Amino acid sequence: MKLDCLKYWILSFCVVAVFACCEEEMPPPVEQDVDLTDIEYDPISVAINVPPYLLQVGQNIPVIPQMPIPDDNMLTEDGIELGRHLFYDSILSADSTQSCSSCHLPSGSFTDNLAVSFGIDGIPGTFSSMSLLNVGFYDNGLFWDGRSNSLEEQALLPVEDEIELHNTWPNVITKLKNHDTYPTMFRKAFGIEKESEITKELAAKAISQFERSIYSFESKFDKYLRGEILFEDDELNGFEMFLDLPGASNDAHCSHCHAIPLLTSNDYFNNGLQEAATLEDFANKGRGLITGPAQNGFFRAPTLRNIELTAPYMHDGSMATLEEVMDHYISGGKPSPNRDTFIPAIDLDPYEKESLIAFMKTLTDTQVINEERLKSPF
Ligand code: HEC
Ligand code: HEC
Repeated sequence: MKLDCLKYWILSFCVVAVFACCEEEMPPPVEQDVDLTDIEYDPISVAINVPPYLLQVGQNIPVIPQMPIPDDNMLTEDGIELGRHLFYDSILSADSTQSCSSCHLPSGSFTDNLAVSFGIDGIPGTFSSMSLLNVGFYDNGLFWDGRSNSLEEQALLPVEDEIELHNTWPNVITKLKNHDTYPTMFRKAFGIEKESEITKELAAKAISQFERSIYSFESKFDKYLRGEILFEDDELNGFEMFLDLPGASNDAHCSHCHAIPLLTSNDYFNNGLQEAATLEDFANKGRGLITGPAQNGFFRAPTLRNIELTAPYMHDGSMATLEEVMDHYISGGKPSPNRDTFIPAIDLDPYEKESLIAFMKTLTDTQVINEERLKSPF
């Protein structure tokens, strides 16, 4: 018995010693860098097809701005397809539970319909998710406060954001390299020759290509502009008030900030959401944190396209319905030193209030939220 025990100890000592010695002498395992050049790289470029009526100066319709696309990230079929996969893939989050699409769902016009978004750890963020419809056209900063300059720059952020996907890019890249299909997709999208060339920058480029493909002009409003249909009386009345047109029964000033055809002027304003005695008193300083105190309390005037589908409203999701939004604008909002001059109290009767809501509902585009090419590939 005793002898057996001793033998056992000697044996285990030797085993441990052998392993320890091997571990020291063996070089670290070399990561195989798979060659991808056998896979065809034949990029097919994709054009942004803006309908002609948005490219001509028409009565009351300004020309749509050109979509800013960086020279080194032109849209291709395979680039968009890779981006779509990454956008919908929970491989991007630390615990594989969330993807970009968790907070940007097609059904909500690429929002999550929550007042504020929750990340993988269930911690609430500070902001309400933003619609990604026509996001490629925005050339004056992204996010409610405009702190990100481009889609390529923005797409890098959610992965490492502690209250969003809470992962690290090195971890994501390792998973993508070891994946069955992603190396091939990166090859087809960007012509890389080896797996080791998969980077977070290329992932962000692909996601940006997909985002630029989320554009659509198929709402009732667009059909009206194209002369395909007529508006109901209340919709027309709302449209005229929205644009302060000469025949309007009242001026609601909306288009100063939510300019057609994108229904945003791509700029930042204080629309009276927060009360502040001085410029330093805003609970959420918004744009001012980037540009200085004069713009404290400023936020992006978001697009009103698909506004019917993106409730609740405002950067903090504080308004549940379009009726509440209208009550806000009718009251002129809360006082602060830099509230915009186009946010006065406006004296609208109930029909006029309903008319503006009816007009906003003409901005609903259900085609884009049901398009197969924009849905999850999984
Ligand atoms: C946990 C929820 C969540 C996840 C996950 C998430 N987002 Fe967002 N997204 C938001 C919120 C909230 C905002 C507004 C944040 C702000 O303004 O600070 C936003 C804003 C954006 C914007 C700016 C839109 C605009 O008009 O300015 C883009 C683009 C965007 N997200 C893309 C993505 C992409 C791409 C991913 C995946 C890599 C992603 N989001 C993942 C919640 C999320
Ligand atoms: C002075 C500029 C300005 C004017 C005028 C203006 N808005 Fe806004 N609007 C904004 C800004 C800025 C926001 C976002 C504010 C925030 O969340 O802090 C906003 C938000 C909204 C939202 C919520 C959007 C979302 O995605 O949550 C709706 C709806 C809206 N406005 C409708 C209107 C209507 C209707 C009118 C006219 C009665 C109007 N706005 C006039 C600047 C303006």
